[in-house]
Amino acid sequence: MGNGIGILGAGAIARVHAQGICDAGGKLVGFADPAAGKAEEAVAAHGGIAWTDPSSMLAHEDVSAVVVAVPNVFHAPLAIQAMEAGCDVLLEKPMAITSEECRQIIEARDRTGRSLQVGFVCRFAATVQAAMQYLAADRLGSIYQARAVMLRRRGIPGLGRWFTDRERSGGGVMIDLGPHLVDLMLHLCGRPAVQRVSAATTSRFGQPPSGYKFTEMWSGPPDLKGTFDVDDGTTAMLRCDDDLTITMTASWASHLPDGTIGDGVTLFGDRGAMHFDIWGDHLVIGTLLDGEIVDVRHPISTDEGWGTAFEREHRCFEETCKGSTTAPSGEEGLAVQSILEAMYRSADAGQEVAVNEP
Ligand SMILES: NC(=O)c1ccc[n+]([C@@H]2O[C@H](COP(=O)([O-])OP(=O)(O)OC[C@H]3O[C@@H](n4cnc5c(N)ncnc54)[C@H](O)[C@@H]3O)[C@@H](O)[C@H]2O)c1
Repeated sequence: MGNGIGILGAGAIARVHAQGICDAGGKLVGFADPAAGKAEEAVAAHGGIAWTDPSSMLAHEDVSAVVVAVPNVFHAPLAIQAMEAGCDVLLEKPMAITSEECRQIIEARDRTGRSLQVGFVCRFAATVQAAMQYLAADRLGSIYQARAVMLRRRGIPGLGRWFTDRERSGGGVMIDLGPHLVDLMLHLCGRPAVQRVSAATTSRFGQPPSGYKFTEMWSGPPDLKGTFDVDDGTTAMLRCDDDLTITMTASWASHLPDGTIGDGVTLFGDRGAMHFDIWGDHLVIGTLLDGEIVDVRHPISTDEGWGTAFEREHRCFEETCKGSTTAPSGEEGLAVQSILEAMYRSADAGQEVAVNEP
């Protein structure tokens, strides 16, 4: 078996991964996608071999690892099939659409002895990596409150296609942007145990007569006669051990004024507080100096961005394939999924609920 990477799926994020693999100095073997012409289109842009059948790609002698970049409903079956075929797996978020499926993926990893990394790419943002250094140096003290937002104005992905069809996606913005938010907050807050969750969802923009208009669409084109039976806005509060609360708000669509922070994190500690836009060019830390509060600004290189985070994710995946265990793990993916499930249960019940043991 060679040391190349194949990509299962040739849609929007597959193309970002292809670039990430190349930027990280990896060997891209090709794409497998059953949709007519899709893999060929990706190959025309990034090179490699085009397959329509994932099994043929998994059997190719050059493919030793794969990125699973397909609709959420296929994450578990394809990740398990890939590991059983002897491949290491970088599995896009959400890890799966149920926590039971996450357990099956972990079982397959242990049974086959393959490596698994979950695609929590925000951990690889330059801002987040700088924030982790401040936290490791204990500059904030004990964190008692944390907030995160991922707010889009006109960002419904693939309207009417799989993203907005609960059966194929597992849900809307909560299962789409929620995994990034939940994982990032657990990562930054030192992996606290989350006890109880209160969440609410809204669905205001996906169906007529909302008048939702857009100029471009992720994973388009839309199917305006297709299904939209998911949430497009959500807000949640997580109660953790040691009185820590984490609040999160996400939207695919809103009338948020232009220029308002889109992807922001704020951490409040008893010795300092920190704020940054995940894809922004600086962090700011409020701290005490001789008893007075002062702001320290930490600049981030303007060369850094979403693409660089994928390059780092792939450098990390190369190490994961060699046995490193520092990457986002299956167990961490399962913990995130258990919290997302509790969030949906809370939204359905209209009350706070306990998080089930992962
Ligand atoms: N990390 C991130 O920031 C990020 C961003 C966007 C999407 N994603 C995740 O990536 C995954 C794909 O999203 P996308 O935006 O690329 O969607 P997409 O609809 O643009 O692409 C999905 C592709 O998978 C193909 N496909 C369907 N069934 C398949 C199968 N059995 N085998 C191989 N290919 C199959 C489809 O034909 C399509 O081309 C989703 O799970 C999504 O949550 C992650």
